[in-house]
Amino acid sequence: MNTRYFTIQTPDDAAQIEAAAEILRRGGLLAIPTETVYGLGADGLNEKAVAGIFEAKGRPQDNPLILHIPSADWLTRYCKDVPETAYRLAARFWPGPLTMILKKREFVPLRTTGGLDTVGMRCPDHAVTRAIIEAAGVPVAAPSANTSGRPSCTTAAHVRADMDGKINGVVDGGDCAVGVESTIIDLTCDPPRLLRPGGLPLEELRAVLGEVALDKAVTGQLSADEKPRAPGMKYRHYAPKAPVTVVTGTAAESGRWLRANAPEDAGLILFDEFAPLFPSQTVRTIGAAADKREQARRVFDALRFFDDTDVSEIYAQCPDASGLGLAVGNRLKKAAGFKTVDARDGALVLGFTGGTGAGKTTLLRAFEGMGAVIVDCDAFYYERLRCDERLRADLNAAFPGVVSPDGELDRRKLGELVFGNAERLAELDRIVFAHLPRAVVRRIAESGAALAGIDAVKLTESGLGALCDATVAVVAPEAARAKRIMARDGISEARALERIRAQKSGEAFAAACTHVFENNAESVEEAQIKAEQFISRLVKEIKEDKQHGG
Ligand code: TXA
Ligand code: MG
Repeated sequence: MNTRYFTIQTPDDAAQIEAAAEILRRGGLLAIPTETVYGLGADGLNEKAVAGIFEAKGRPQDNPLILHIPSADWLTRYCKDVPETAYRLAARFWPGPLTMILKKREFVPLRTTGGLDTVGMRCPDHAVTRAIIEAAGVPVAAPSANTSGRPSCTTAAHVRADMDGKINGVVDGGDCAVGVESTIIDLTCDPPRLLRPGGLPLEELRAVLGEVALDKAVTGQLSADEKPRAPGMKYRHYAPKAPVTVVTGTAAESGRWLRANAPEDAGLILFDEFAPLFPSQTVRTIGAAADKREQARRVFDALRFFDDTDVSEIYAQCPDASGLGLAVGNRLKKAAGFKTVDARDGALVLGFTGGTGAGKTTLLRAFEGMGAVIVDCDAFYYERLRCDERLRADLNAAFPGVVSPDGELDRRKLGELVFGNAERLAELDRIVFAHLPRAVVRRIAESGAALAGIDAVKLTESGLGALCDATVAVVAPEAARAKRIMARDGISEARALERIRAQKSGEAFAAACTHVFENNAESVEEAQIKAEQFISRLVKEIKEDKQHGG
């Protein structure tokens, strides 16, 4: 079959809309964009057309399809006994990523509903697709456009990869804005039941409906004899070719676990901040740890990405279950067949950074006073230079001659090579950052300490900051810093200011950290007391956060 490709920018492009609608009216198969994922559409009342969907996808016959309509006005055409709550939800969330399960009218084919007397109804938030459905004048049955079992399609390129030659047309409507499928709510039971978490967060449904029950298939693997209410939830899903393991816990905890345990040849699905920590693995990022919207948009792309690589297994970081995290985590866990490892390690790791003279040491000593182990990354770097042969070899490859034949690193020569040369300095950083974080994590794990601090000027740049449960920037007024440096190092004020100004500003340190310690104390004693108060409050806060599933 020759697949025709449409690019339709607006619902006003009447000629193209009509050409696409024509395919549906004639019983053909047309991939359509929606805000969630691409759908593989056909006339939902035409049994032959619907059979074509199952064939093109290789989908089990008992897995029902969702009917897509252009507005809530169409609901009573295909559904009966529509409860008042359906209209309330439609008014609030349609068009949008919500599918409602309702009682079907007799004439809606059982082939469409997988033999059920209910039907899933959805009004997609994509103007072009709604215009096509309106023009076709039929409800459009559309499962996700992927081959059955594969990750869903969020770009027209994904659809082409799975469906080219198997269907009549593909409408390219750009990348999907939401990226995970619709949330499915069953309104035929009381209380309403969430069958699949999706693009509309559960919290928003609860705000309208009050109590919402969670189907067991949402959070765990069903046993062989259990029958899910959404038949599709029982099948292996979203799975890349390589086996997937989901690493649970906070982002920092899963990051630490991966840095200590991920094999060199593994593929990693990571939050953005963690990518620099894994230079030798094949990495696909899905957005910042705190940005679940972005994670939803990119999660299927990440799962597809590894099929074109030779990784033998895949590990994935996973957001917590609030908001869109429930859907993102569900897709990752389904891709993993619910294989997870728990990364919670009981350790509380804090990162400390700041410019010279700001008073970082005072804060570190206070933390040590609570029993914390501190890794001073400067000192640790020199220690690694002495004992890490691979680090020395990498440095020698980039800066020939800095390692003598008997394996000694010439630190002065290296310093001269990179001094004032931004490009070489970046190369040195790259090499050090590829080695140091792993060693730091190992050092902390081996110490067995419940509290650990990482002291690094380049805390964020090295990626180490992402591995910390919190990061603290220590800042102080310039005059106070200069005074401390003069007293400490016996230099002039001009020299002290010169040193301060050669570094990143206090604001820049603060912007890169989760917390800021402002060291504006008048005396050493006062600074110590303030540091102790600050650090014990912070530790308490994080412990509470973790207890609440943070
Ligand atoms: O966002 C979406 O919902 C996308 C786009 C294309 O609209 N569609 C989609 O369809 O994800 P599909 O077929 O990949 O997933 C539909 C899920 C399946 O798990 C199916 O079992 C369930 O919805 N489902 C459909 N009708 C149902 C019904 N009457 N009762 C229970 N579950 C139903
Ligand atoms: Mg699907």
